Amino acid sequence: MARLLVTGGAGFIGSNFVHHVIENTDHHVTVLDKLTYAGNRASLDGLPGERLVFVRGDITDAPLVDELFADVDAVVHYAAESHNDNSLDNPRPFLDTNIVGTYTLLEAARKYDTRLHHISTDEVYGDLELDDPERFTENTPYNPSSPYSSTKAGSDLLVRAWVRSFGVRATISNCSNNYGPYQHIEKFIPRQITNVLRDIRPKLYGKGENVRDWIHADDHSSAVLTILDKGALGETYLIGADGEKSNKDVVELILSLMDRGADEYDHVADRAGHDMRYAIDSTKLRTELGWQPRFRDFAGGLAATIAWYRENESWWASAKAATEAFYASKGQ
Ligand code: NAD
Ligand code: DAU
Repeated sequence: MARLLVTGGAGFIGSNFVHHVIENTDHHVTVLDKLTYAGNRASLDGLPGERLVFVRGDITDAPLVDELFADVDAVVHYAAESHNDNSLDNPRPFLDTNIVGTYTLLEAARKYDTRLHHISTDEVYGDLELDDPERFTENTPYNPSSPYSSTKAGSDLLVRAWVRSFGVRATISNCSNNYGPYQHIEKFIPRQITNVLRDIRPKLYGKGENVRDWIHADDHSSAVLTILDKGALGETYLIGADGEKSNKDVVELILSLMDRGADEYDHVADRAGHDMRYAIDSTKLRTELGWQPRFRDFAGGLAATIAWYRENESWWASAKAATEAFYASKGQ
């Protein structure tokens, strides 16, 4: 049994990880989450109180972070401002949380010699051409495009520097696009599912040719637990499940799974600086640590995700009007 501190544990991937840990290990979890617009305490409902403590707070609050690090064996750091479109609208919170927040955790890890796993994104590598035969590996040079991805890249580099200069016991993972339950409806897949549930036509940026490499959030969680358990300190691992799909194909699949016509969507204004394609080569994680994804049927995973949003309207309904008003103001 270990005592884990999970930052951002009320967000999409963090809450999926907390559920995964409670169900698959005997670890005790403390969640540190600011509950920004993206955090939802209800995402942790139903989990046993004797295994889970929730602390509302900010990862840039050094005294609070210090107090929490004093009592845990390991930290898994998910907390971030995570949405590219928001970072184009107002980058400042991305610098505060993603850069200063990660710095604050690294200083505490250094003080207490705490094992830290830093969660990052494949977007730090920039994008690929549609016909590029290569995929991202741990050796791909950093080349981020957006305010969001540049702050994530900055946070990764801070972790690497604290490992090398101060001997902090850290690992990093860079994962591709996640889907599954508890994802904020600003994001592509839940936005389109909840649009259809509200009789709003799905919105595709530009031509919809952009490709994302989808992985179920539960597979991301099992990969992170594997790295926490068996990963070599100082190393970076790419997490992906060979799930490349164009946005157009994903929208059409959502429409078909929800019994709508395949062309019942709108093309809207493209995202500024829109990355064309992400693709992960996760050979290192699979061969060195023996990890495998469990969700290999994207249509099946998507159908289960659609069912989750259908059955949990109370979880997302209050955010829908403001989310769509934000997009409408951008012509999206
Ligand atoms: P999310 O936006 O759903 O959740 C972020 C959580 O962090 C929220 O609960 C929010 O309240 C919390 N938070 C934000 N600022 C905070 C602060 N200053 N202090 C404490 N808590 C704060 O994000 P997500 O999609 O779950 O992403 C989680 C992590 O995974 C991020 O680091 C992101 O970069 C990374 N990631 C995401 C994806 C993806 O597809 N969503 C893929 C790869 C990596
Ligand atoms: O690759 C990992 C990243 O995946 C994470 O680091 C980010 O935190 C996460 O938000 C996600 O970033 P993307 O920008 O790829 O995800 P998003 O859901 O915003 O958009 C996915 C694709 O869909 C992208 O090409 C933009 C497009 N899109 C998005 C929305 C919201 C649309 O076509 N229509 C939409 O309404």
